[in-house]
Amino acid sequence: MAFDKAYFDAGVSRVGTDCAKWDGMFAEHGDRDMIPMWVADMDFPSPPAVYEALESVLSRRTWGYTLSGRPDAEVLAAYWQRRHDVTIDPAHVIISPCVVTGMKLAVRATTKPGDGVLITTPVYGPFYASIKDNDRKTVEVPLVVDENGRYNMDFAAMEAKMADGSAKAVMLCSPHNPCGRAWTREEMQKVVDLCRAYDIPLIVDEIHADFVFAPGRHVSVLALENLPEKTIMFCAASKTYNVAGLEQSAIITADDALRTAIQKDMNAAGVKGGNCFALAATRAAYTGCDAWLDGLKAYLMDNRDFVYEYVKANMPKIKVTPLDATYLMWLDCSALGMEQQALVDAILKAGVKVNDGLFFGELGRGFIRLNIGCPKAQLEAALERIKTVLG
Ligand SMILES: Cc1ncc(COP(=O)(O)O)c(C=O)c1O
Repeated sequence: MAFDKAYFDAGVSRVGTDCAKWDGMFAEHGDRDMIPMWVADMDFPSPPAVYEALESVLSRRTWGYTLSGRPDAEVLAAYWQRRHDVTIDPAHVIISPCVVTGMKLAVRATTKPGDGVLITTPVYGPFYASIKDNDRKTVEVPLVVDENGRYNMDFAAMEAKMADGSAKAVMLCSPHNPCGRAWTREEMQKVVDLCRAYDIPLIVDEIHADFVFAPGRHVSVLALENLPEKTIMFCAASKTYNVAGLEQSAIITADDALRTAIQKDMNAAGVKGGNCFALAATRAAYTGCDAWLDGLKAYLMDNRDFVYEYVKANMPKIKVTPLDATYLMWLDCSALGMEQQALVDAILKAGVKVNDGLFFGELGRGFIRLNIGCPKAQLEAALERIKTVLG
């Protein structure tokens, strides 16, 4: 099968599947004509190999407790070696439910109640929740936007929070949602070196790793030198292969004591991975879907370039943040001078649901996030509607 433009143009109908993106939107807004460009999953079918793996589990006609562990970790390690040139020891992998579960476990295992956790903002909403829900303190270091609209880390401000003791851990989104940055090797190494120098645990969410667009490459924290003793990375097949509803991810750390602490906390709360459908789908995703992913990335790059051009031509006041990675575009609408709720409401009224910038923190005021993981015709239709408000 060719995973070409025609394949992705065809998309997949998700209406009536209880999916949050479409059915959740219809239920919330009561308008069945709306176009969903919000929550981070895609309107494409998952790869055929994933479908076949699920079909094979389905055909067993019985789904009892299932072995998981070492073989799943080995498949994951082979994938990361092949796609991202990083060596992962399968013994360092914990299969967990969602990445957000991992984030919360990591915060709990590396800090105490009342401790500060440094995040670079704006950032994906659950980063804040992982800290707050565990009675830790959010230490925000704003990303700095340059003259091209690119977001950069403020290393001096990060170091200041480490040096004065206010940050007891650092939690980074790499690639970054919603700012679309793929951090370079040099940038990642600087964070690593700072954490190492101040002996601060480093927690890195790499769920969007597979979406770094050429000529860029994802640089995993695990591929770097001089790692702090407590370094934790999360990854999943969920975003890449559109299997978020199966709820499986991985927590990876080379630190034995940290892995033991996380496992203990998981046991205490009765949290475990091992859903037989999720295991099979993830193994298939990691072994048999490279051509599908390469086709998807080419398609998403076209969608991204289409947004650049469309906005430039039709909504000159809107600044589109350059997208190195992810299928989530960060649009600066502040030049319109609209109040945030009015902005989001006006776009809803025009028939499109996007993410409110405030979901990513106060620095998201004036912004919206647009999900371009959909057939181009859908993207075009949504932009036509958005233009009536932002144009
Ligand atoms: C950066 C980031 N981390 C985690 C998640 C959620 O992952 P999960 O559904 O596995 O908790 C998302 C979803 O959009 C995300 O963008």
